[in-house]
Amino acid sequence: MQTQATSPSAALAAAAAVTPDASRSMALLGRIAKGWGQRAQVKQRELDLAYDASRPDFLESLLPFHLHPLYESLDERTKGRILSCGWLIYNEKTVAIELDIVSPACHDILYENVPGLDTEWAKEIVCETLVDEAYHLLLVKNANRLTREVRDLSHIRIPQFALVRQMQEEQARHTPAWAPMLVRLSTAVVSEIFISDYLHQLSEEESIQPLNRATVAAHRHDELAHSKIFAELTRAFFQALSSSQKSFFAETLPKSIHWFADKELDLWLDVLKQLGVGQAGTIIEDSRQINQVALERVDYSGVIQLAEDVGILDTREGRSAFSHAGLI
Ligand SMILES: [Fe+2]
Ligand SMILES: [Fe+2]
Repeated sequence: MQTQATSPSAALAAAAAVTPDASRSMALLGRIAKGWGQRAQVKQRELDLAYDASRPDFLESLLPFHLHPLYESLDERTKGRILSCGWLIYNEKTVAIELDIVSPACHDILYENVPGLDTEWAKEIVCETLVDEAYHLLLVKNANRLTREVRDLSHIRIPQFALVRQMQEEQARHTPAWAPMLVRLSTAVVSEIFISDYLHQLSEEESIQPLNRATVAAHRHDELAHSKIFAELTRAFFQALSSSQKSFFAETLPKSIHWFADKELDLWLDVLKQLGVGQAGTIIEDSRQINQVALERVDYSGVIQLAEDVGILDTREGRSAFSHAGLI
């Protein structure tokens, strides 16, 4: 037997012989894995742009309260500090996604805890993804350090994200030993499919700080590949789950979409208070009444397509979970 000597690409070729779907999926993952050396941002030259303090750090339309009259009536200096905090929060959300959601899900795959993904080809692409994510941490932590320094915001503390808190509460709610792993995997799949959309607008925004735009564009470049990777990994593991695990995953996926789309208003209330914004409570409470979850701000068609492709929407539990969540 040549098991030990088999390279990931040979293992890929062997696995590809299984079914036409598996073959298509693995061929795509094989191409993505092969292109990593050329594509990955960690292999490119580092960003070398000067900080232009005259430009805003963030886009006003991305603040969940930007149309509130009390926000509109604030002075320009305070608005500028709120925008800089918007940028800090945006980057810290990336950190939370990488550290609390995607990396642990990748570790589960490497520890062979995920059925259907205990193969060399899956591990190869997951290792590449982990390297990318570590580089994204470096990118956004550097960006935040610089922003805090230039804008005098070192004292601002960013509390826990509702995205992570809700995922952890759901993990604690279920007894089967595999449940917490599947909750995190579902949230990782949704995050990895959504994050390139989350990064899209800022990656092309000419009006903001050029360094911030370049940071987001570099991150998004990798995430465009990650969204394909996680969609294909899902096709591979979903078929290997037991029927109760399939139902559980189908019910968790729409919840993960809601957690990702949460406007993080509690976190914003905390930060606005730290900035000394008067009537922060009114601004946030009014915004809460409009909508806690901004489904219109995320394009969830990719997750719906995936759910359809793997057969989740053909099951009664899957259809009712997605329809109950207002997604279909
Ligand atoms: Fe990332
Ligand atoms: Fe990613």
